[in-house]
Amino acid sequence: GLETKASHFNPKFSPIQPTTKDDVVLPKGYTYDVIASYGDVINPAGDTFGFNNDFTCFLPIEGNPEHGLLWVNHEYLGELEYYVNGYDYLGADAEDNKRTPEQIQKYLYALGGSVIEIKKQNGKWKLVSDSTYGRRVSGLTKHVLTGPAASIAKEVTGTFANCSGGVTLWNTILSCEENYMDVVGDCKLEDARHYGWVVEVDPFDPKSTPKKHTALGRFSHENTAMVLASTGQLVVYMGDDARDQYVYKYVSKGKYDPKAGKANSRLLEDGTLYVANFGKGTWISLDLATNEALQKAAKDGKPLFASQADVLINCRDAAKAVGATPMDRPEDLEVHPIDGSVFIALTNNSSHGNFYGQIVRLFEKDNQHAGEEFTFEIFATGGPQSGFSAPDNMAFDSAGNLWVVTDISSSSTNTGIYQSFGNNGVFFIPTAGENKGVAVQFASGPVGSEMTGPWFTPDEKTLFLAVQHPGENLKTYDKPTSHWPKGGSHVALPSVIAINGF
Ligand code: FEO
Ligand code: CA
Ligand code: CA
Ligand code: CA
Repeated sequence: GLETKASHFNPKFSPIQPTTKDDVVLPKGYTYDVIASYGDVINPAGDTFGFNNDFTCFLPIEGNPEHGLLWVNHEYLGELEYYVNGYDYLGADAEDNKRTPEQIQKYLYALGGSVIEIKKQNGKWKLVSDSTYGRRVSGLTKHVLTGPAASIAKEVTGTFANCSGGVTLWNTILSCEENYMDVVGDCKLEDARHYGWVVEVDPFDPKSTPKKHTALGRFSHENTAMVLASTGQLVVYMGDDARDQYVYKYVSKGKYDPKAGKANSRLLEDGTLYVANFGKGTWISLDLATNEALQKAAKDGKPLFASQADVLINCRDAAKAVGATPMDRPEDLEVHPIDGSVFIALTNNSSHGNFYGQIVRLFEKDNQHAGEEFTFEIFATGGPQSGFSAPDNMAFDSAGNLWVVTDISSSSTNTGIYQSFGNNGVFFIPTAGENKGVAVQFASGPVGSEMTGPWFTPDEKTLFLAVQHPGENLKTYDKPTSHWPKGGSHVALPSVIAINGF
């Protein structure tokens, strides 16, 4: 049933106006600290913070809300690759992929994720640059596969295209491989089936081998939202961020055991993957043993679903074969902390004329997260009236307010129908009360950037954000469009910030 818990969190701020300023602009009384930028040293071995930071997740050390580990995803390079390895993405080099082996090494090292240790001292958040927890998990790191498709490889090299993610109930990180196919092509990698998975990393054990959990399916994973169902099973909500792709949930076979700690990771190896049909309000199981539509498709020989491993590897084809509902690019899914409803950011879909996106709110029947029936409503719609466009990552505060970042593509920002929105930013949307569904702007990002990975400390005094791709949409490398965060003539650097003032 519905649970309510008291919360005293009631952020008060005067909303900001859209702006094109090359800075992180915040309401009066709020300030930000830059914690880590691309290239910063993060451990005694000299490993460095990766590029284009996205998902962030703060895990306190010994319960201290001002000292902990921050996991940060590193997604992609794009045209800013020039600043990582000198490859001329805008020029002649790009035409037939002339990356040298050294450039490919640097490319892969800059992606994946970072574990950094951070601390608040004298009112300012700082990186502990000689931390023994400091770790890079990159496109060069060894991984293992678990679950039904684990047989495709003994081990897999690297993770990349890590967009958003989530945290488990046992304090590990789930990092999501999204547009892996771009990296596979750029870096001339052989087996694309090694990528497109959800990766589990234990930030507290720097020697642990990250795991790719194949039971959660292979597609352009945006994020994960894990919740404990009333049945004791774990449920993980997930979106496939591509035009006309689907919304999924994974339901573990076994039950969560709070005493088992990290051993609960096994629950991500055996379970049922479902895909949503919004017309019928049903979750369709992608289990080959019981789904007749999949069995029929397997018998017809195309597409190939000879085994459950094939179903998981070719997840998009399987979802299509069973009649799932194509969506307008599902980005983050997040579970409301008070009533358990599931929020889905549909960022946009230009092929359907959906230019501004929506946020959908899904209600599981009787609030049964492991169940197979749901209803939904449109919670908020992007556009000039509502003031936001292209919702992407979301976070809830403990009072159930939604914090949403926007991602109008850097080539569209401040042009045409997107002119009035200014740079991408952060919006605050109450989910109850008289302002339910009404967005106000809390922050604006530097030129060309997207703010990603919003995450609160447990005391809700700090909001972490990743400022991704500042300075993107360049015409020429000698005229940078952003100089954030260092200013002057410095080239922009993707960086993670802490916002103080709550
Ligand atoms: Fe990497 Fe769906 O954003
Ligand atoms: Ca992004
Ligand atoms: Ca995203
Ligand atoms: Ca996006």
